[in-house]
Amino acid sequence: MLQQRPRTDGDASMRRSDEDHYVFDNAGTQTPSRFSALASIFDPGSIRCLTQLGLGQGWSCLEAGGGGGSIASWLCDRVGPNGRVVATDIDTRFLETLNKSNLEVRRHDIVSNPLPEAAFDLVHTRLVLMHLPGREKALGKLVAALRPGGWLMAEEFDSLSVRPDPDVNPAEVSLKTFAVMQRVMIDRGVDLRYGRALVGRLRAHGLAHVASEGRTFMWHGGSPATEMYRANIEQLRGPMIESGLITQKEIDRDLARMDDENFLVPSPITWAAWGRKPVSDLPAALPLASGR
Ligand SMILES: C[S@@+](CC[C@H](N)C(=O)[O-])C[C@H]1O[C@@H](n2cnc3c(N)ncnc32)[C@H](O)[C@@H]1O
Repeated sequence: MLQQRPRTDGDASMRRSDEDHYVFDNAGTQTPSRFSALASIFDPGSIRCLTQLGLGQGWSCLEAGGGGGSIASWLCDRVGPNGRVVATDIDTRFLETLNKSNLEVRRHDIVSNPLPEAAFDLVHTRLVLMHLPGREKALGKLVAALRPGGWLMAEEFDSLSVRPDPDVNPAEVSLKTFAVMQRVMIDRGVDLRYGRALVGRLRAHGLAHVASEGRTFMWHGGSPATEMYRANIEQLRGPMIESGLITQKEIDRDLARMDDENFLVPSPITWAAWGRKPVSDLPAALPLASGR
């Protein structure tokens, strides 16, 4: 029987440490905007890649750091009544609103709480690991949670490789607010290039058939994407001002520019990387013990 009520595994107090802190806050008034933008912009690419892995009826899935729950909800429909989806987050307030009979919601910290081992056919996470200084430990646990033959797909940003360039498009403006927000995030342990590192990290964790794709968009002012940026900027406004690198007035001026539909900003590259847990730890070239 799947448990419908959020449950906390491991440390019941959910004490946070330096390695699992998260710079944004699901309790903030801006969060619904962030989650609806993430779903509308990124779900189509995530769903296409997940479908290509062969995900289907009866699979057992883990959605780690499920946030607004759009992918958890899609997974529930895809795996059907004989499948199951465990969706975790440190703050499950949005996941709890999903009404799916094959969904189990767990309040769970991917860095510091335990996960069952060899339990899932698919483990998926999106835009979570880059935020966590303990991302390597978390990734190790996600890999350990795979059954032999199971797939892990992680999707994370590389926010630094593509920069606004007004020589290409005059409307691509480098906003001071973006630069300061990135500074504040880096200082708080966010890895803004982690998406690009994923393929190497999945190989290092012993996954086979590792592959990846990067997606990028040109975002317009006044779009869901700039609303997502607004939500992020508002949630980090305090630390940005405290940094002394920017003033309230400068932030407000940049937010107003983002409302202009002529404004353009190249998106971060969203890297999706996937790999499969080998069925046996034996190297493929060694003969089986039975001599077959
Ligand atoms: C940027 S949101 C991404 C949400 C969702 N995965 C998506 O792509 O739409 C990051 C999510 O990770 C969750 N999170 C942050 N730190 C976490 C941790 N240590 N363990 C589990 N979830 C965490 C946050 O609460 C938030 O819901």
